[in-house]
Amino acid sequence: MSVAIFDSGLGGLTVWQAVTRRLPDLKVSYYGDNANAPYGTRTADDVHALTVAAVTKMWETDDLVVLACNTASAAALRRMQEAGVPPGKRVLGVFVPLIEALTERNWGDNSPPREVAVNQVALFATPATVASRAFQRELAFRAIGVDVEAQACGGVVDAIEDGDMILADALVKSHVDALKRKMPKPDAAILGCTHYPLVAESFQAALGPDVTVFSQADIVAESLADYLSRRPEMAEGGQARMVTTGDPVRVSSRATQFLRRPITFEAA
Ligand code: DGL
Repeated sequence: MSVAIFDSGLGGLTVWQAVTRRLPDLKVSYYGDNANAPYGTRTADDVHALTVAAVTKMWETDDLVVLACNTASAAALRRMQEAGVPPGKRVLGVFVPLIEALTERNWGDNSPPREVAVNQVALFATPATVASRAFQRELAFRAIGVDVEAQACGGVVDAIEDGDMILADALVKSHVDALKRKMPKPDAAILGCTHYPLVAESFQAALGPDVTVFSQADIVAESLADYLSRRPEMAEGGQARMVTTGDPVRVSSRATQFLRRPITFEAA
C-alpha cells in the first residue's frame, strides 16, 4: 500500500511538502499533469477525463491517491467515487478537510449544519472550481449563515506554471480588488487552489492583516495524518517518485525554485 499526491501541475507540491514535513517517514509520490495544466479553464467533463486517466495510472503503483487539486476535486472526485474505485484503491480530495477547518469540525463529523465563527468568506479559486459551486455545496452541509463571495482568479495558475511570479502577484492584487468590490470586509479568505500558497503573501498583503487566510497545505497534511493513523496499512511501502507528464527538466527547475530545495522529476 502506498500514498501519492496528484495535481494538474506544480500547485500540489505545496501539499506534498506539508505532507512530507508532517509525516517524515511516509514515502509519498507526486504526479503532476503539467502537459495538460491548467485544468481551471477546462470544462468539468474534460477535467474529469484527465483526472481519471491520471489516477488510473497512479493506481498502477500507489493505492491511496490524494487529489491535491481543487479543480479536479470539484469536477471529478464525487463522480469517481460514485462510479466505484478498484478494490484496495482510494481517492481523496482537498475540499472537505479545508471546510472542516473553516467550520471547526473534526474529521468525519457529519452532525447537522450549525453557526460558525466566520460569516463573510472570500473564496479564491480557478474559474472551473468557482463554476462548480462545490465549495458552497460542501459548506452548506456543515455551516449556516455564512456568505461566500467567490472570485475566479483567471491567469494566476498559468503565471505560476510559467514561473512568472511578478505577473502572478499583479493578478492576485487585481483579483483581491475585484473581490473587495463585491465583499468589502471578509472575515476569512480561502485559497481554494493549491497553486495559491505559492503566492500566499501577496494574497495576505492585498487582503490586509485582519483577514484570516486559510490555505490547504497544512490542513490537508493534518487530515491525511489522521486518516493514515486509522488505516496504517495504506502508509506501508511506497516509492517517493516525482513524475510529470510535462518536460521533466523544466518541471524540476520550477519545483526547485518554489520549494527552495533540489527536486528531480522523471517522465510519466
Ligand atoms: N492546483 C489546482 C487547483 O487546486 C489546479 C489549477 C489548474 O490547473 O488550473 O485547483
